[in-house]
Amino acid sequence: MRISIYTGHLQEWQGSVLIVGLVEENLDSQLVELDKRFDGNISKGLNRQDFKAKESQVAVFELLQGEPSKLIFIGMGETQKIEIDNIYNFAAIGARKSLGSQGKLGISIPEISIDSAITTKAIGEAFRLATFKDQRFKGKSEPVPSIDALEILNLNESADRFIEQINPICSGVELARELVGAPPNSLTPSSLASIATDISKQHGLEVKILNQKECKARKMGAFLAVAQGSDLEPKFIHLIYKGKGPLKRKVALIGKGLTFDSGGYNLKVGASQIDLMKFDMGGSAAVIGTARAIAELSPEGIEVHFIVATCENMINGSAVHPGDIITASNGKTIEINNTDAEGRLTLADALVYACALKPDEIVDLATLTGACVVALGTEIAGLWTDSAQLAYSLEQAAEQAGEGIWRMPMRNSYKEGLKSMLADIKNTGPRPGGSITAALFLKEFVDQSIPWAHIDIAGTVWAEKERGVDPAGATGYGVRTLINWITNSYSK
Ligand code: BES
Ligand code: MN
Ligand code: ZN
Repeated sequence: MRISIYTGHLQEWQGSVLIVGLVEENLDSQLVELDKRFDGNISKGLNRQDFKAKESQVAVFELLQGEPSKLIFIGMGETQKIEIDNIYNFAAIGARKSLGSQGKLGISIPEISIDSAITTKAIGEAFRLATFKDQRFKGKSEPVPSIDALEILNLNESADRFIEQINPICSGVELARELVGAPPNSLTPSSLASIATDISKQHGLEVKILNQKECKARKMGAFLAVAQGSDLEPKFIHLIYKGKGPLKRKVALIGKGLTFDSGGYNLKVGASQIDLMKFDMGGSAAVIGTARAIAELSPEGIEVHFIVATCENMINGSAVHPGDIITASNGKTIEINNTDAEGRLTLADALVYACALKPDEIVDLATLTGACVVALGTEIAGLWTDSAQLAYSLEQAAEQAGEGIWRMPMRNSYKEGLKSMLADIKNTGPRPGGSITAALFLKEFVDQSIPWAHIDIAGTVWAEKERGVDPAGATGYGVRTLINWITNSYSK
């Protein structure tokens, strides 16, 4: 799909489908040009459908003669309330409503206060992301209707500033969705490692993959304890991006990579959604998707480390027992009082590894706790960090991406709940505040001189129904936020 800016008049625009965004104020005056072109029938038709341009209100007109053959009107609510998120939603509705149409599409948006290049980027991303369909596992795939070109109307010429970034960003998000959507008999720790290797080769990243023996040599006892009940070998993945120019910033991204989480001997039973636990590698998918995008976007002056300790949490005769005491790579001993709190064990060794690289900042993403889903639902991820600066830069990055995030308290007194009688720490605390103790557990493995943030994506990794730019299923949450966070420059 080619995306460009059309600077001519709405009246003269040629193409097969025209999508028009409208705001509530002065509806008639927004329709003057189109009414001229269609003999006054637009306002009449919209009136008949009681169209008031309320947010997400839609009116579709199919025309029997000539082009455009379809007009799609979408309400955007009050001008003042329009944020990036609303642009993503508006364009996603337009994309879905025009699905199946061929040829050239036009999309016109009312005057708003958001930068025109940012608006263009959001519209372009929304078109590709909202119409994504994963057909890899169908015996026979349906033909996917394709849109040749998308023209964005009503914006100034500098609106094309970010157009080239749209496809690399969307490829990263789609990769993350495909990784998460793949079933656990297809996406295994080894296959994830080989996909990461392929990406590094195709896009010029450095790659290191550690096998079980190499992880053992590095004393990654926490990560390996989780993996030991599975027939599949764990893999430790490390990709490196080195941008051109003098180095200004070095960061590490870590993603939880459980290709399946059965819970272990604390087996997931009842309503714990064991059948969905293929998505427990959503953090790693976001990190690898971001690696692909960053390699293509090639921002200067930055070095990024992408780190994933991937394995399965399964049950066999060698699996960890609830009650086992193990030792992480920083020498801390952990009493595993619950084998289902496995993500934090894998992350513990990944955090120790990342700190040894001495980055300026570390961010981890993980489908870590059901408690986070209870607290924030499925549209908002939880953010834990002691650094106000890092919190701010991540919040900004998420807002620009139209991805929900909310900072949660890192209350140190709750560490009391992780006290172990025998070991240095237990892996789980009491049920109340379960996402907070999870974050506090991770903090034990972070060098306190390095600003670090933890993002719990347990709710946002998966959508029951399509919403906004997300299809039903894997959302690819986090890729766009991380790309923004890496490419935005913040003074530290
Ligand atoms: N992968 C799960 C978290 C999860 C649960 C993600 C539901 C998405 C939906 C994680 O490994 C886990 O099992 N966490 C436990 C922690 C508990 C044992 C302290 C949980 O949330 O129940
Ligand atoms: Mn678990
Ligand atoms: Zn898990």
